[in-house]
Amino acid sequence: MYVCPVCGKKLKRHEKSWHCQNGHSFDIAKKGYVNLLTTAGRNPRNSGDNPQMVKARTEFLDRGYYTPLAEKTADIMSELVKNIDRPVIIDSGCGEGFYTSAYAKRLGKCSFWGIDISKTAVAHCMTRVHTENIVNCQFAVASSFSLPFKDKFADIIVCTFAPVSNDEYARKLKDNGRLVVVSPSPRHLFEMKSVLYDMPYENKPNVYGLNKFDLTDETFLEYTVRLETKEDICSLFAMTPYFYKTSEAAAKRLNTLEYLDITCGFVIQTYTKKRGF
Ligand SMILES: C[S@@+](CC[C@H](N)C(=O)[O-])C[C@H]1O[C@@H](n2cnc3c(N)ncnc32)[C@H](O)[C@@H]1O
Ligand SMILES: [Zn+2]
Repeated sequence: MYVCPVCGKKLKRHEKSWHCQNGHSFDIAKKGYVNLLTTAGRNPRNSGDNPQMVKARTEFLDRGYYTPLAEKTADIMSELVKNIDRPVIIDSGCGEGFYTSAYAKRLGKCSFWGIDISKTAVAHCMTRVHTENIVNCQFAVASSFSLPFKDKFADIIVCTFAPVSNDEYARKLKDNGRLVVVSPSPRHLFEMKSVLYDMPYENKPNVYGLNKFDLTDETFLEYTVRLETKEDICSLFAMTPYFYKTSEAAAKRLNTLEYLDITCGFVIQTYTKKRGF
């Protein structure tokens, strides 16, 4: 259940808004999500993915190239919740909802709570759940560093290519709760970088400083796919950070390709919250 981002009290839903006992109220948007970012909580330097990135991500993900990742992560979470009665899972930095809705369909007994700082992304999550008739997901605009849930709310927090918060995730997970972090493997998209850069580098492992957690499992998933159209190549490029860091000449090289074989490589890490946090 949500808590008030201003005073921390429980939020109750009443018709088209969520409100707390201290009179703070948050309207539910027409699409069905709630914006729980306070003015103070807004970060002028980070409003998350912009509409162009959200569109590119949706177009690319809907082509199914990353479906094996969604399935593998769902398998891992399914194992983690198998002895839990009504598991609660937060998808932190859920983006436009491709993974959240895939997980929700697969793990029907779980309730999913997706948050993202990008309003456009969260609005698209609602489109997904309405179109696909998914009932076990709720979405809010919020920050990963200030999750609008009571402490010890979740059995799992899953975080895919999105910011990771040691302190906040430890606070919002139940005792013995699990954190599932998906990040790129060293070879992820290497072939695309080889087109863009003279000296492409392998991705360095992310260092999250998760000292309130123990790493309890690490799964590598790597496969190659052929991006079959120029549109797919462009969508993938536009959803990566390279889009904003690449010269026009290099981007043009990519635009001339008819297809591109790429490595999709992921590391799925499972952490367990340490005792006492
Ligand atoms: C690379 S995208 C990944 C989205 C999604 N998990 C996926 O894999 O498709 C990173 C996401 O993190 C979101 N984001 C960035 N900073 C954030 C923050 N402080 N709190 C919550 N979300 C954030 C962005 O808006 C974006 O949707
Ligand atoms: Zn309040």
